[in-house]
Amino acid sequence: MGEKRLLLAHIDAKDQYKIANYEANGGYKVLQRAISTIKPKEIVDMVKESGLRGRGGAGFVTGMKWSFIPQDTLEPKYLVCNCDESEPGTFKDRLLIEKDPHQLIEGMILSAYAIQSNLAFIYCRGEYFHGIKRLTKAVHEAKEKGYLGQNILGSGYSLEIIVHTGAGAYIAGEETALLNSLEGYRATPRLKPPFPAVSGLYGSPTIINNVETLCNVVHIVGNGAVWFQGIGVPKNTGTKIFQLSGHIKNPGCYEFPLGITLREVIDTAGGMLPGRTFKACYPGGSSCGVITARDLDISMTFETLAAVGSALGTASIIVMDDTADMVKVASRLMQFYQNESCGKCTPCREGTRWMVQVLSRIEAGKGTFADLTTIDEVCTLMAANSFCPLAQGAAPPVVSAVKEFRSEFEAYIEKNPDARVKQKMRIAYPYMSGNR
Ligand SMILES: Cc1cc2nc3c(=O)[nH]c(=O)nc-3n(C[C@H](O)[C@H](O)[C@H](O)COP(=O)(O)O)c2cc1C
Ligand code: SF4
Repeated sequence: MGEKRLLLAHIDAKDQYKIANYEANGGYKVLQRAISTIKPKEIVDMVKESGLRGRGGAGFVTGMKWSFIPQDTLEPKYLVCNCDESEPGTFKDRLLIEKDPHQLIEGMILSAYAIQSNLAFIYCRGEYFHGIKRLTKAVHEAKEKGYLGQNILGSGYSLEIIVHTGAGAYIAGEETALLNSLEGYRATPRLKPPFPAVSGLYGSPTIINNVETLCNVVHIVGNGAVWFQGIGVPKNTGTKIFQLSGHIKNPGCYEFPLGITLREVIDTAGGMLPGRTFKACYPGGSSCGVITARDLDISMTFETLAAVGSALGTASIIVMDDTADMVKVASRLMQFYQNESCGKCTPCREGTRWMVQVLSRIEAGKGTFADLTTIDEVCTLMAANSFCPLAQGAAPPVVSAVKEFRSEFEAYIEKNPDARVKQKMRIAYPYMSGNR
């Protein structure tokens, strides 16, 4: 199974970001046809039938989410595109907004039309200067051509898109923290329920979707739900943009039907660096469990990866070869989560900090064997008791690294002459793995 490019079909075309070139490659044709011939509800049904699942990490069925928008409300409805993209290893949305911004805009117009929203936002990671410039220009161009603004293409439907720049926080990608940030507040998550589809931006019904999810809508509306279902595997339809980083010959973005094996993805990216062998990878960004060579033939779907204790997430594959030091990897990742914890709840705020201290101690050759139990206990406790999924994502990369590569952690600990001291305190908690 080779690459199948739908979203990346024109990514290498010269100046595809300019509206004239996007149109020359068939751009805005789907919108022109759909806005005069397809009813909003039909688009919702089409996206539902296609089986498209959100590409922002959780894999929720997009059409289902859209159908939660209340129909009988007089309140405004909003569409928000999540382009915060701050998880280590993740860089597909950046490519899409820099190289083909009109594909996203066309997808957003179709999606906003489907849920009958007249105001949409693109919440973009602040560091994406280039992408923000391209998006802002593209919105302007689309408006000049009548694809945006009042009475789009004479249809009676109107939509404005606002490009909003974030300030560079990973937590701002969590959908409710994003809404707080968009409203001008600090980016901390909100309690759910109510879910944003019912009460989101300014308390109104709001759909939040990832960049890649919204780009897919152009292709579904253009080619039909059945066509889309034919790509990928049941329950995991369509293509996915895989992002390869780390110890890989040709890092970058590759688009494949879902269900491809990890081995095929790695081989297409040129395989490992000369003379090196595959050791492990985080297949779905940094917030998932590590997998090893044992799982190289796994099919890349939400369910198969969950079954081996990992996740498809955003399909951001961080590849590590035999030179990777898993103690350093775990320690570095936990530093990221400590930095990015918003501090709202104690288990995450204190747990990530504590874990950084323990991992740094081990890395410095001052750890004890009891530290390995502490890591397992604190991570389990933190994931089970924190307010939002950031902490649930901080635990698996470290816990799985200790589980799969315990001997590497033990080798560091052996450097400490007092490594076998008894742990002073044990935490007893019903959620802990040993107490189940
Ligand atoms: C800490 C954290 C960061 C996240 N960052 C992003 C992000 O950058 N982009 C994104 O689309 N989703 C991100 N998500 C997931 C969103 O909360 C949400 O599920 C997603 O935007 C929904 O879009 P989708 O249904 O199209 O996947 C993040 C979640 C968490 C917990
Ligand atoms: S889990 Fe972490 S990021 Fe989420 S609310 Fe609590 S402190 Fe903030």
